[in-house]
Amino acid sequence: KVLIVDFGSQVTQLIARRVREAGVYCEIAPFQSAEAAFAALTPKAVILSGGPNSVHDEGAPRAPDALFDAGVPVLGICYGEQVMALQLGGKVAPGRHREFGRAEVEVRAASALFEGVWTLAARYPVWMSHGDAVTELPPGFSVIAASASAPMAAIANEARRFYGVQFHLEVMHTPDGAKLLSNFVHKIAGLRADWTMGAFRGEAIAAIRRKVGDGRVLCGLSGGVDSAVAAVLIHEAIGDRLTCVFVDHGLLRLGEAEEVVGLFRDHYNIPLVHAQAQALFLDALAGVSDPEEKRKIIGRLFVSTFEAEAKKIAADGRGAPEFLAQGTLYPDVIESVSFSGGPSVTIKSHHNVGGLPERMNMKLVEPLRELFKDEVRELGRELGLPEAFVRRHPFPGPGLAIRCPGGITPEKLEILRQADAIYLDEIKKAGLYDDIWQAFAVLLPVQTVGVMGDGRTYEFVCALRAVTSVDGMTADFFPFDMAFLGRAATRIINEVKGVNRVVYDVTSKPPGTIEWE
Ligand code: XMP
Repeated sequence: KVLIVDFGSQVTQLIARRVREAGVYCEIAPFQSAEAAFAALTPKAVILSGGPNSVHDEGAPRAPDALFDAGVPVLGICYGEQVMALQLGGKVAPGRHREFGRAEVEVRAASALFEGVWTLAARYPVWMSHGDAVTELPPGFSVIAASASAPMAAIANEARRFYGVQFHLEVMHTPDGAKLLSNFVHKIAGLRADWTMGAFRGEAIAAIRRKVGDGRVLCGLSGGVDSAVAAVLIHEAIGDRLTCVFVDHGLLRLGEAEEVVGLFRDHYNIPLVHAQAQALFLDALAGVSDPEEKRKIIGRLFVSTFEAEAKKIAADGRGAPEFLAQGTLYPDVIESVSFSGGPSVTIKSHHNVGGLPERMNMKLVEPLRELFKDEVRELGRELGLPEAFVRRHPFPGPGLAIRCPGGITPEKLEILRQADAIYLDEIKKAGLYDDIWQAFAVLLPVQTVGVMGDGRTYEFVCALRAVTSVDGMTADFFPFDMAFLGRAATRIINEVKGVNRVVYDVTSKPPGTIEWE
């Protein structure tokens, strides 16, 4: 295991993903609680992340001294290098030449970190982002690579297995970064590449059995990857003591309910309740056009529908489920570094159908708590979920309700469903689905004049949206070529009654958001 001490870098999670891609399990702890995490995890290696501070700032974070006294290898990246150098007796000065972006380092000495990757006196591209730089080595250290502005761009104390790099080896822009990181965890720390989703599957199943005993578990399926993978995994662990509930709020895409029910009930034989709550939701939403009001209504009804189904399941004579399964992922669990007083947890409140666990008074089973999204997809493949399901774009809980600005009617939803299905079909045919983070149609509450055949039309406008993103927090519009957009627009206008104009959204996030509401 590897412990990553987070000093608040934007890319700390990338370090963790790179380490795991090297087949080694790791966890992230904010610097404030790093000492406790070190004691709890007993890691075989430590990585110190970058961070926004200067080591000379008042109250700038430090690494717990215990990390340096434990005899485990330590790799400091950027701020992590500087803090290590300073704490071990070196000096750090504000860099006269700040370096941001692409840079080159020259290898000055052979090092275990470079073995088989970088050779003496050769130059290699790296990604830099720093103001300060190490200017005086701590005792026992030597320079192993230098850049134009950072003569101590990489330093090492080979005997104690301490390494510091000024550049960011976790980003793609440092092409050899993954290999250097692999050297650190495999060759220097001696860790084996045994973190695979195959191994995780077995451990997770054992852990679920230990936790649940002979109890029963209730799992809400959303149609998304996370809850699906959680459900299949739990079913492998406890069989039919799992019951899934799929709340159909009538705001799903074309064919979605059939797909989910077919896959889970028929293919996996998982007990599944398909709650047909379309009328309930659509009645409550009638005439509501405020986006937050829509979310509140949907969230409330979701919880009450789920609760009602849970009661029915509890009354089936097999004992009430005492566990609720959730597809919580590692990024939701990581404590974030906070410089303004203790650690804080960031919660995207409107992104979850909140309140369920608190209200239901059930114990939680969260088998994906340790995984990143790409690992969940890998685990899904491992569990035999169809590739198309594993690669699905994210879909918001409130569904089409927030893609139908203004009031929602069953007619408008039907138009939107048709247009959305054609758009996604064209995207898949063009082989672009996997290059896009999310793509969907929005039905605008605006009617415009058109001419079809010899007649005048007065119908709705359909907006198309497609974005690229890594985490949904920032996004860029997808640069389709015009021929593609023309094709999609023509098909939608010809095939969907009720739409006579199509527009493409070229807004990035920020300043826009991905969804229109
Ligand atoms: P925005 O529109 O905030 O979306 O840029 C970022 C990501 O979150 C999804 N999203 C939601 N997911 N409930 C959800 O479960 C919501 O109310 C909600 N609003 C936005 C959106 O689809 C995108 O992936």
